Amino acid sequence: MQQINSFEAYIKAYQDSVENPEQFWSAVANNFHWTKPWETSLEWNFTEPNIKWFAGGETNLSYNCLDRHLATKANHTAIIFEPNNPDEKVRKLTYQELYIEVCKFANVLQSLGVKKGDRVCIYMPMVPEGAIAMLACARIGAIHSVVFAGFSATSLADRINDSACKILITADAVYRGDKLVALKNIADEALENCPSIEHCIIYNNRNETVNIVPNRDLWWHDQMNIISAENLSVPMDAEAPLFILYTSGSTGKPKGVLHTTGGYMIYVGYTFLNVFNYRDEEIFWCTADIGWVTGHSYLIYGPLLNGATTIMFEGVPNYPNAGRFWEMVDKHQVNIFYTAPTAIRALEACGTQWFEGKNLSSLRVLGSVGEPINEEAWQWYYNNVGHSNCPIVDTWWQTETGGILISPIAGVTPLKPAFATLPLPGVQPVLMDTEGNEIEGNDVEGNLCIKFPWPGMSRSLYGDHERFRQTYYNTYQNYYFTGDGARRDAEGYYRITGRVDDVINVSGHRIGTGEVEDAINGHASVVESAVVGYQHDIKGQGIFAFVIITQHEENLVQQIKDIVSKIIGPFARPEKIIIVPGLPKTRSGKIMRRILRKIAEGDVSNLGDTSTLLDPGVVEEIKRLAGL
Ligand code: PRX
Repeated sequence: MQQINSFEAYIKAYQDSVENPEQFWSAVANNFHWTKPWETSLEWNFTEPNIKWFAGGETNLSYNCLDRHLATKANHTAIIFEPNNPDEKVRKLTYQELYIEVCKFANVLQSLGVKKGDRVCIYMPMVPEGAIAMLACARIGAIHSVVFAGFSATSLADRINDSACKILITADAVYRGDKLVALKNIADEALENCPSIEHCIIYNNRNETVNIVPNRDLWWHDQMNIISAENLSVPMDAEAPLFILYTSGSTGKPKGVLHTTGGYMIYVGYTFLNVFNYRDEEIFWCTADIGWVTGHSYLIYGPLLNGATTIMFEGVPNYPNAGRFWEMVDKHQVNIFYTAPTAIRALEACGTQWFEGKNLSSLRVLGSVGEPINEEAWQWYYNNVGHSNCPIVDTWWQTETGGILISPIAGVTPLKPAFATLPLPGVQPVLMDTEGNEIEGNDVEGNLCIKFPWPGMSRSLYGDHERFRQTYYNTYQNYYFTGDGARRDAEGYYRITGRVDDVINVSGHRIGTGEVEDAINGHASVVESAVVGYQHDIKGQGIFAFVIITQHEENLVQQIKDIVSKIIGPFARPEKIIIVPGLPKTRSGKIMRRILRKIAEGDVSNLGDTSTLLDPGVVEEIKRLAGL
């Protein structure tokens, strides 16, 4: 595949992609293996919406990630696995070895009756078997739904049930730092309420004792031992569903974002190669978990589609100490390092002594993803990690976009700290005003929309196309609405300012305020709650909950935090909770979150107009309780 190697080449590619998008993406798609050529490269409208790339064509993602490389790269390392405990053994899988494991596991799934279109839930630690399970699903046309292994039993059950998964793949347990998480126990609790699950396959990661439900539960190694290593990938329609990934929105339960095969494949393959300017033989390390879209697109699929070596790290950045990342960069001679601003800020707070004795000279490109990166963190990353000679690609994208949309191209796009800079080829961003008009010119700010399809975009929400339309295509007619606000500066560079809806971004984890409120309201003593985000030095945003209760109890605030951990997961625990006598509501009963956000930020200098409130006095009371 052709790589963009100069700014002029970027401008040219961008122009081509806008003037002749079908030709542009067809040329990209031709770099991949198709078992049947497509009939039409693009059919689309943003009203239904209906988006089809390469309709009529057939391909297989697993084949393109594995089989396609065997002739030239069989002995090349595909995955380097670094365990949580640095004293335990590193595992390396070559393309040939990974291919065999994937074929075997594909056979296991088929032997259990999994067919094209069936849903398989993956609730796994960051071990190669997680990747093997995903690739095996893609190989046989099963739709994977990876659930981040930090989610609670309730969240896991909700996700399994929403898409009626047939199989759950999990592990006995995982250590994250010095904390043992008993995944199988959590899975057992979830499975009490999951009638669609026929089998649970358990990977023995830590030799922990687990409960085995006869007939339902099977050990990964038992199944793999008795199965053949030959498996022919199933040709898949370009528009056949590939995976579901649940994500949070402003309202309602999490949405099952659906991605399809051909467009997603070529988009993540193309963007991986270009954004990071990947060069053959390089070692790529993305620190995201496979439970999030970054893990799907740039830890597994993007690198493997390009025959790259990708690192999977089981642990956390501060175990056994805050030098772990830098030690790993040296140990594995990492060339490209891709992480989240929250990790950068957390490590910055630990001080520069953790760089002592670390070389870091293997690094060539740095990446950032998941939330806006503030200028200070950018500079710290650039100077201390990149030794002022590695470009930082600040990559803006979303679960729904499948791959990166706005980002510098490493070594090509002139950088500007805290700016995601320019759209990638094929991406046509626009800023919208409150009346629904495109804002022309530069040095402007508005709501970020995309006006033309790109191959990696989500096609629907699993089982709820109408919700898909309403969430993304209804706010502005004929545009995909991202939910983010952005600024376009005098040079036309984009800076993402953050969500404009009720989604909070805590340490790069996307959390709907409504979900947290529902969890809090589940406590017997809670009458009502309102949740907002506030600026947090390390996490980007923290969660602030205002809660009305029936009666005071001992440890109530702790209990409320615990119920959120239990219902959603520990990462969604509110940082701050205050018990309030009422909430600022309009006469029609709508909570004025704008006021709560200001109070949460500790800035009450200008609360705006409160005259429309049912009881303006409540604001004074909340301010007093918040110590303002
Ligand atoms: O608000 C944007 C923020 O993360 C949201 C998407 O979250 P999620 O679907 O979980 O995907 C995260 C990984 C792609 C966006 O709507 N976001 C993501 N990347 C950036 C960002 N905000 C600013 N700058 C970024 N580079």
